[in-house]
Amino acid sequence: MLSNTKDVLENAQRDKHGVAAFNVYSLETVQAAISVAEKENQPVIIALGERYFPTVDVEGFSAMVRAMADKASVPVSLHLDHAYEKESIIRAIRCGFSSVMFDGSAYNLDENMRLTKEIVEIAHMAGVSVEAEIGSLARGAFSDEEEGDGILTDPKSAKEFVAETGVDFLAAAIGTAHGMYKGEPKIELDLLDRIRQDIDVPLVLHGGSGTPEDKMKQAIQKGICKINVNTEISMAAVSHLQAYFENKEMVHLSTVMAEMQQSIEPVMTKFVKLFANK
Ligand code: 13P
Repeated sequence: MLSNTKDVLENAQRDKHGVAAFNVYSLETVQAAISVAEKENQPVIIALGERYFPTVDVEGFSAMVRAMADKASVPVSLHLDHAYEKESIIRAIRCGFSSVMFDGSAYNLDENMRLTKEIVEIAHMAGVSVEAEIGSLARGAFSDEEEGDGILTDPKSAKEFVAETGVDFLAAAIGTAHGMYKGEPKIELDLLDRIRQDIDVPLVLHGGSGTPEDKMKQAIQKGICKINVNTEISMAAVSHLQAYFENKEMVHLSTVMAEMQQSIEPVMTKFVKLFANK
């Protein structure tokens, strides 16, 4: 069934488990995410980033995901990831996304609050929940995200931000990076404790790829409810296909698509199991 992301995350918060938000770009990536979630009997968040709007028919994609969600045996939410433009957010709301992320992390705190509050008002009128971010992630290797400053979230600002904007869940920057880490990851779990102390909305961890599993497990115990994963999935598919194409003269595209889906399912399974505390 298509589920409200807020409900899914509030359940996760209560039960102290995490929900995977997988970045997707195609039918096969969505099929993989839903199939893995069903096998593991866990909810899943299908996340489409604004950066894929130029190549993805957003309305068509939404209709497809919602039809697949309706058939699914587990809760499936459709989320707009990292949107910088109000127009993209309105477009996603109009075509049935369950939640949207407004990324105003490049603005100063006041401007980020002002813009986020405006988005929250619009989205809530349509029954859509909103994620926002303060602080920002650095970009590691092989990531498809924007370059970030790697500024950690300040707990006092986070408290003010949530109270002022009415945002439903908050992405906190605690040292994870988008993509694979270029050096030793330094995940600040104490900072997460301090952020959690004053905030009761579900917290989101961006940059799941390459993050040490024990750190993610601890982060979930300390209040992270949604973990975003992109790069590791892409890398699994690309390296599998590189090997697959070696010594092959011509293969049919339908076979390639099926190979791609099969190659990402084990990676998604690893994350779903880890977040579910299984
Ligand atoms: P990774 O690419 O590090 O998995 O991060 C994904 C992400 O946070 C998307 O919002």
